[in-house]
Amino acid sequence: MSELEFSVVILAAGKATRFKSERPKVLHPLAGRRLGDYVIDATQAAEPQRTYIIIGYQAEDVRRALDRPGLRFIAQTEQLGTGHALMVARPELEQCPSPNLVVLVGDAPLVRPETLRTLVSRHVGSKAAATILTTQLDDPTGYGRVMRWKRGYTPLDSPERDRVRTIVEERLCTPRQKATKEVSSGILCFDREVLLKYVDQLSADNTQKEYLLTDLIEILNKQRYKVIALRVADSREVLGVNDRIELARVEKTLRLRKAEALMRDGVTIVDPHTTYIDDGVEVGQETVIGPGVSLLGRTWVGRNCLLGPYSTINDSTLEDNVSVRQNCVVSGSQIASGVILGPFAHVRDGATIAQDAQVGNFVEVKKSRIGRGSKARHLTYLGDATLGEKVNVGAGTITCNYDGEKKNSTQIEDGAFIGSGTMLVAPVRVGRDSYVAAGSTITDEVPPESLALGRARQINKEGWARERAKMKGQEGANLKPEADSEYPRA
Ligand code: UD1
Ligand code: CA
Repeated sequence: MSELEFSVVILAAGKATRFKSERPKVLHPLAGRRLGDYVIDATQAAEPQRTYIIIGYQAEDVRRALDRPGLRFIAQTEQLGTGHALMVARPELEQCPSPNLVVLVGDAPLVRPETLRTLVSRHVGSKAAATILTTQLDDPTGYGRVMRWKRGYTPLDSPERDRVRTIVEERLCTPRQKATKEVSSGILCFDREVLLKYVDQLSADNTQKEYLLTDLIEILNKQRYKVIALRVADSREVLGVNDRIELARVEKTLRLRKAEALMRDGVTIVDPHTTYIDDGVEVGQETVIGPGVSLLGRTWVGRNCLLGPYSTINDSTLEDNVSVRQNCVVSGSQIASGVILGPFAHVRDGATIAQDAQVGNFVEVKKSRIGRGSKARHLTYLGDATLGEKVNVGAGTITCNYDGEKKNSTQIEDGAFIGSGTMLVAPVRVGRDSYVAAGSTITDEVPPESLALGRARQINKEGWARERAKMKGQEGANLKPEADSEYPRA
């Protein structure tokens, strides 16, 4: 067994008090995933021997949501503090094979796996009993302050300068201690046996009335163990999320990390600060993402696509060379290569748009299949419809799919031409290479290669307007000439 082997305990039993939320903190959404997922990911990427996670508040929900291979859940039924969490975990931790134990607060989602590994190797290299990951904060409010042994007596290059005397929680700080800017990240590495030997000495006899894990530092010092600090360079990495303001800050950092990773891989992002790309989203090389674009959920975008400003794409697949113009909403849909969407298109709920098709402005496509090279470019609703190849749908066409009880489907076969302003009353089929005259209401099947006209015949009343103008001059007269009985009054 290597002395560098370690296991991790993630503390996630607490309630999100300052979130003012019923939902456990680790289940709050963060950049497309749950807050707790980030800590678990970082942990697993660091390859510990075992990963324990302490749960308590709404334990069953947390377990169900975060469960994945390799995680061992430990219930802390009463949350009496971070130290208490480890006291509860004791039976499990006694069975743990690792010499080192890394304890992580579950609400510091930005920590990187490399940092966890560095923490362990530094801990082992220094032969410390405990190593605290610390950072320097301009505003240390809310964090435990790290008190080092007086530095004046130790030479600059002495490893003794790293030694820590105690961690004092904010609420227990004297004014002088409060001014200290070095804080504990809540991420610590312990010698497992030493931890288990002394953890039961913690007491809740303090103004916070909690068993504070941080108090263990002073206990270890009293027993003459070596406790050191390892400072992270970029303090953002260990920021805790205690309220929704901090949640937004961390979200911003995560989004920027994601955007930068994509840019490094050859994606152009015009304005990373207004672009929202969820953690799991993939984007191909040479794709250009405009300002205000959101790529959310399980979204996959191919190469060479153009995603216009303010479009939102959610749980969808876009193949290569797709052009999404400004202000489109695409959700739960498949878009094939060469398709042009928008501006202002809405494609949703399992729509499939085949190669080179066009869905233009103010066109909504719901649960429909649009065949290769087909076009619906203006002001149209296509719901529960199947369009073949090279269909042309004129402006203002509507599939009337809902009869008040159920949804009915419309089929438009290859090469059909639907004139502008057509109502297709489903269920209905328009046959291959047929024409539907503009303004038609189609209720019956249109056979292939035919012309369907479904509208009233036009009547012209010659001289009607001239007559009306004349009547306007006569006082008290009816302002409109009589209309023909076969035609409604004008
Ligand atoms: C904690 C540390 C503090 C550190 C800060 C860094 C302690 C006492 N304080 O403070 O030194 O600077 O993190 O972010 O350790 N939890 C349990 N069981 C409990 C109580 C808490 O599992 O009984 C979990 C919480 O769910 C949370 C984590 O422990 O994920 C930390 O608890 P929190 O209340 O957020 O501690 P802080 O006050 O932020
Ligand atoms: Ca916290």
